[in-house]
Amino acid sequence: MTTRSVTITDNATGKSVECPVHEGNYGAPVIDLKNVYKELGMFTLDIGYASTAACRSAITYLDGEEGVLMHRGYPIEQLAEKSTFLEVAYLLINGDLPNQKQFDDWVHVIKMHGMTHEHLSRFYQGYRYDAHPMSVLAGVVAAVASYYHDTTDIYNPNDRRLTAQRVIAKMPNLVSKIYRYGSGLPFVYPDNSRGFVENFMYMMFSWPTEPFVANPVAVRALELLFILHADHEQNASTSTVRLAGSAESNPYACISAGVATLWGKAHGGANEAVIQMLQEIEKPRNIRKFVDRAKDKNDNVRLMGFGHRVYKNYDPRAKIIRKACHDLLDEMHLNQPMFEIAMELERIALEDDYFISRKLYPNVDFYSGLIYQALNIPTNMFTPMFALARSAGWIAQWMEMLSDDDFRIGRPRQLYIGAKQRDYVAINSR
Ligand code: CMC
Repeated sequence: MTTRSVTITDNATGKSVECPVHEGNYGAPVIDLKNVYKELGMFTLDIGYASTAACRSAITYLDGEEGVLMHRGYPIEQLAEKSTFLEVAYLLINGDLPNQKQFDDWVHVIKMHGMTHEHLSRFYQGYRYDAHPMSVLAGVVAAVASYYHDTTDIYNPNDRRLTAQRVIAKMPNLVSKIYRYGSGLPFVYPDNSRGFVENFMYMMFSWPTEPFVANPVAVRALELLFILHADHEQNASTSTVRLAGSAESNPYACISAGVATLWGKAHGGANEAVIQMLQEIEKPRNIRKFVDRAKDKNDNVRLMGFGHRVYKNYDPRAKIIRKACHDLLDEMHLNQPMFEIAMELERIALEDDYFISRKLYPNVDFYSGLIYQALNIPTNMFTPMFALARSAGWIAQWMEMLSDDDFRIGRPRQLYIGAKQRDYVAINSR
């Protein structure tokens, strides 16, 4: 119940509006601005949504000052240690952890939806063999819409549930085919005797002429990355999925819009950019020079994998991944000089006043690429892997939005700063 309010007064006219303040279970309270335009004739401006809550959500909570992340109330550290990606996906979508029977049914149903229509395989042939995998992924995910458009009623909860199952089940298949096509390898059908992550590795890496045995250490490392990437509140790609979905668009097209947004290097594309940065640094002795460039406002270099709009503390996912990366390299007896460079870069940056004063810490992408690399996943496939995992969060957020009683199309306003009205002048008189 709202008991608090904030009064906004226009000093020029003396008009006021009383705005209710809503308290969530955690986090900053929010000022409800819906009456501001009606009472004051003004919009609010918040470029980059730095202080604007665009929705109510019960899925994920993060506290950027304290470095806390929880899904449905469960701390990410516990989920990372004890859960699986499919269980986390169930949790995001259904709100609670499943009992054994619910989980078995869920795993079964995900397996049953793992295939894609045979025609869909031909979509890949339309791309250049060296197309960036995120461009292919945006295309093939949108193409899935063409198989289920007329049969999906987004206002029917059962159809929404079925869509969520299909999205989660088909993403490994769709992603693995991008890699196979680019490498000139035949597509591989899912093998339902394998677990979700192992099956993905099988579709990615198996050779038609050889039996495929997944390395359990690699399976667990990938499972961990999928858990850590499954959802992250109202980030750019999730907000895109919600906005596209608010127009009642086909859900697969909405997920494709999320893929397009995730691609950017300020967002999910950072995992690829981190590896490129570490390659450019090449040797520990070049680190300081690179850090100086990242601090120089006249140079457009940034420390990739550093900084976050919300976290003003160590990203809790980065902490987990850093340790996992260390353990994985140890267990696989891999000597990865890039990991040494990354750790030294982190040390130098965290002692530097520029990064300290701006509260810039390593984020989830700083170490994730090193794990993907240790698992022989090509650099340009890192962001599709992120998308595979994040699709669970995207679809859970899409479902939540559609079941909200206040659901309506998203339609931001603007401050117009363009030309005033003027008359058209014929081209020969301009
Ligand atoms: N290297 C150097 N300076 C930085 C960095 C960085 N990585 N990030 C922010 N800054 C500086 C920025 O120049 C600004 O300085 P000043 O106040 O002097 O102008 C200050 O820190 C605040 O930065 P901002 O750009 O206002 O912050 P933002 O919240 O708009 O941007 C960000 C957040 C993640 C886009 C940004 O930190 C960044 O570009 N990081 C590198 C890319 C990256 O790692 N992205 C992955 C994000 S986490 C995973 C995901 O979202 O998918």
